[in-house]
Amino acid sequence: MNIRLEETADWTAVYTIYAAAFGQSAEADLVQRIHKDGDLILSLAAYDGSAGPVGHIVFSRLILNAAPGVKGAVLAPLAVVPSHQKHGIGSALVAEGLERLKQAGTDLVVVLGDPNFYGRFGFSPKLAKKLRTPYDGPYVQSLALSERGNEAHGPVSYARAFAELK
Ligand SMILES: CC(C)(COP(=O)(O)OP(=O)(O)OC[C@H]1O[C@@H](n2cnc3c(N)ncnc32)[C@H](O)[C@@H]1OP(=O)(O)O)[C@@H](O)C(=O)NCCC(=O)NCCS
Repeated sequence: MNIRLEETADWTAVYTIYAAAFGQSAEADLVQRIHKDGDLILSLAAYDGSAGPVGHIVFSRLILNAAPGVKGAVLAPLAVVPSHQKHGIGSALVAEGLERLKQAGTDLVVVLGDPNFYGRFGFSPKLAKKLRTPYDGPYVQSLALSERGNEAHGPVSYARAFAELK
């Protein structure tokens, strides 16, 4: 399994990954819109030899309105094709993405998802309680990648594409 920046030529395959994993096209459309709006920070694909991409992850910009010095990112969406799930690919995409963001100086990452999955990477609903997000509740979790990330608080703004998600 090889995780790397997605190749533009693979976009159709990436779209198919999201459609198959979620059983609908909303998340694939979200990815496309994040790209189009210029809000993408990082997207990675997992390649399974000659089979092409089988997993994909997107990080987009997050603005911390009360702490503009904090560099934030949203992890979403993430998907692995059903035939390749439960083989560690989703976890590898998250781990590689977080490592790259940390190297790039990102302070805080926010995710909406199951704490049983994201908790293994250190994401915490407790830390996210200091933020005010459009999705507040037990599934919002955050992870500090720096000391500054631990101090993040207040209202945050997601990329515009999320508001348009149906
Ligand atoms: C979630 C997803 C990306 C995980 O990818 P994956 O390659 O199957 O994950 P991994 O093999 O790295 O990890 C699997 C582990 O996570 C757990 N897990 C997977 N999806 C989970 C979920 N939605 N909630 C809780 N735990 C989950 C599995 O039970 C497994 O646990 P184990 O290691 O204790 O056996 C994949 O299942 C998927 O694409 N699902 C559909 C789309 C989706 O829900 N995306 C996430 C939106 S937040």
